[in-house]
Amino acid sequence: MGYLYLFLLVFVSWVLFIPSTQELQTFQVQLLLQLRKHLEYPSSLEVLENYEGDPCNLTSTAHMSITCQENSVTELKIMGDKLVKVSEFNGHAIPNQTLSESFSIDSFVTTLTRLTSLRVLCLVSLGIWGPLPDKIHRLSSLELLDMSSNFMFGSIPSGISRLIKLQTLAMDINFFNDSVPDWWDSLSNLTILSLKGNQLKGPFPTSICRITSLTDIAMSHNELSGKLPDMSTLSNLHVLDLRENKLDSGLPVLPKGLITALLSKNSFSGEIPEQFGELALLQHLDLSFNHLSGTTPSALFSLPNISYLHLASNMLSGSLPDHLSCGRKLGFVDISDNKLIGVLPPCLDSTSDKRVVKFGGNCLSTDVQHQHQESYCREASMSKQSRIREIGILVAIIGGAVLFVVLLGSVLLILCRRYCSRVKFEQHTRPKVVQDNPPTVVSSEVLANARLISQVVKLGTQSAPVYRSFSLDELKEATNNFDSSLFMGEGSKGKLYKGRLENGTYVAIRSLTLLKKYSSQNLKVRLDFLSKLHHPHLVALLGHCIEGGGQDDSSANKIFLVYEYVPNGNYRTHLSENFPEKVLTWSDRLAILIGIAKAVHFLHTGVIPGAFNNRLRTNNILLDEHRIAKLSDYGMFIIMEENEKIEAKREGPKSCQRIEPGDDVYNFGFILLESLVGPIVSGKGEAFLLNEMASFGSQDGRRRIVDPVVLTTCSQESLSIVVSITNKCICPEPSSRPSFEDVLWNLQYAAQVQATADSDQKSDSPS
Ligand SMILES: *[C@@H]1O[C@H](CO)[C@@H](O)[C@H](O)[C@H]1NC(C)=O
Ligand SMILES: *[C@@H]1O[C@H](CO)[C@@H](O)[C@H](O)[C@H]1NC(C)=O
Ligand SMILES: *[C@@H]1O[C@H](CO)[C@@H](O)[C@H](O)[C@H]1NC(C)=O
Ligand SMILES: *[C@@H]1O[C@H](CO)[C@@H](O)[C@H](O)[C@H]1NC(C)=O
Ligand SMILES: *[C@@H]1O[C@H](CO)[C@@H](O)[C@H](O)[C@H]1NC(C)=O
Repeated sequence: MGYLYLFLLVFVSWVLFIPSTQELQTFQVQLLLQLRKHLEYPSSLEVLENYEGDPCNLTSTAHMSITCQENSVTELKIMGDKLVKVSEFNGHAIPNQTLSESFSIDSFVTTLTRLTSLRVLCLVSLGIWGPLPDKIHRLSSLELLDMSSNFMFGSIPSGISRLIKLQTLAMDINFFNDSVPDWWDSLSNLTILSLKGNQLKGPFPTSICRITSLTDIAMSHNELSGKLPDMSTLSNLHVLDLRENKLDSGLPVLPKGLITALLSKNSFSGEIPEQFGELALLQHLDLSFNHLSGTTPSALFSLPNISYLHLASNMLSGSLPDHLSCGRKLGFVDISDNKLIGVLPPCLDSTSDKRVVKFGGNCLSTDVQHQHQESYCREASMSKQSRIREIGILVAIIGGAVLFVVLLGSVLLILCRRYCSRVKFEQHTRPKVVQDNPPTVVSSEVLANARLISQVVKLGTQSAPVYRSFSLDELKEATNNFDSSLFMGEGSKGKLYKGRLENGTYVAIRSLTLLKKYSSQNLKVRLDFLSKLHHPHLVALLGHCIEGGGQDDSSANKIFLVYEYVPNGNYRTHLSENFPEKVLTWSDRLAILIGIAKAVHFLHTGVIPGAFNNRLRTNNILLDEHRIAKLSDYGMFIIMEENEKIEAKREGPKSCQRIEPGDDVYNFGFILLESLVGPIVSGKGEAFLLNEMASFGSQDGRRRIVDPVVLTTCSQESLSIVVSITNKCICPEPSSRPSFEDVLWNLQYAAQVQATADSDQKSDSPS
């Protein structure tokens, strides 16, 4: 009897369970449909149109994703296209596309809170307006809440303080205009607090300093005022961004683990604390545009990791010690518009290529035409020199504004990547047409006037290696007279040897036979242009050797190019690698692709004239010992124009699948493809794959053709982004292909999506 009873009980509850699951599904679909209605039918929720199945079965898109556990929705991410524009003047949001008058944030949140299992909620750029209701606390399982780029105003509701599981809270670029509340310490697991670009007032709340789990605090572009509290308790803090507020008084003690401290454009006064010179991990310090005075702690310059030190437009005085030592990584120093006297220490001598140093507008005895009279720095009063000072400030403000726009751009990038791609794509179609027809013959005059327009490259990278010409004897010695044991391979462009210079440096030497005879003067101009192409993701060209010495008019037909030696093989072999510890995961591949895309973007836009036709393929991508990707074989057309044409003629009929062999975007599309499916055998493999592109559309198709290593290490969303950009790159119609900037953007977005998925997974797994 007992067993029968038990059986019945189990049976009955089983019978009851099924309808309740279905009810749950129906209920959740109803809720999602209501949310869609509240949000006035954003395009990202179009998939819900006529949808009746399990919401947990909906496939994610770049703008919408739903994740479930035990049939309940636990993650909901919706990205709209209602961009909040940000004023370039003061960093505040400019209202533009809000939802209509009839939108009610109160009933929207009421509906939302019925999804009681939500752990991750992203509602970005949806035009949501109004004060955020306190009842948001009903979503008590929330670990991540991101409602950035909307139009919410008023105060941050105290209900947030009851979301004690929160790890990330982002409300960037809204219109919150009350004072910052001071109840933060109940959020004991919070790691990221981001409230950038609002109009928050009042003092920086001290309760924040009691959340020891915090790694990032970003509250730039608000109206915070008063004195900052001691922050030394925040032992996990890496990023502190409080730019452009109205904070004043002295600078606080900062936590030891800090990596980035951005405190510019406030009203801080007093001296820079000596303690800043003990922040061993600090990389970025921006204290510019404040009222700081006194001497500058010299330890700041020699911090082991410091790379960016911006102290401009303060009232720092005294002289820097003559023996000042600069950290090895220091790449940018701005001490301009202060009241410094004495000489500029040798390690800040701006004539060195190693770092960018700005020091105008002081009273230094170096470069005096850009300095004030010493009396200006000795006297506290500014009035006498006010005009000069004003001009200085004006210039600084303009410079600051440019820098600000750049920084703001990066603030917005994350949000923007999610919705601008279409707009960007359109924007770039026109300039791209120009790129599609790069000059095939570049005159030496144009090359001689070549300019490097990218200053960014200078920052944060190691100094460029010295370029020089080598003698043939030197190269013979380095390669043991071009011994066959040092032969590394024969590319499309000549033989490659490994060599070792007298000073012990390993190099790769490429020998090239020129079909066109340039005068050696002309050749040197061309080599000079090549030598200007420095980028962290380009294999560095160290020098050349013109056979026959290149004396005046004797035209050379053989040259050697000497490159840095990159020890870890090429990307193609890594892609076919089978050893588990050596395989490249999806994130590894994205990092490599991003590096190369940056390098190509630089080749296209960082120099005038741009260097196109860079023979992009997986075996021209080399990896160094840290798996940093470097592109080789770039810019060859500069010296090989004639060869190119002859080859093209010879290969004519064979290469008709490659619609336009010279197009970097198209070739990069193939690199993307090989990153997805593994190395492709050229010829037949390519045609086959072009036919297979459709398979990427379905889950089954993906399982069939995508490299298993990728499948097991990628998030579907990240994969989809790359599949879609790959499709565009290999589009037969050149004018429909994206620009390289667009490619780079999509890759960075894919990497970010992947990183988020990885960290979500980490936080999901029981610890
Ligand atoms: C959801 O997907 C699973 C597996 O793909 C399937 O078994 C199930 O029937 C689907 N449910 C609904 C309601 O579509
Ligand atoms: C609002 O956005 C639309 C579309 O982005 C734009 O055309 C319009 O000029 C913007 N309006 C304002 C006031 O910025
Ligand atoms: C905070 O995180 C820890 C470790 O991840 C976890 O054990 C704890 O339950 C979390 N606290 C809250 C309130 O969620
Ligand atoms: C915040 O902005 C709203 C809407 O513009 C306004 O009604 C309210 O008075 C403002 N509140 C404060 C504290 O400034
Ligand atoms: C910072 O410097 C330390 C040595 O002081 C070094 O071990 C560490 O790798 C550096 N960190 C970064 C991110 O460069």
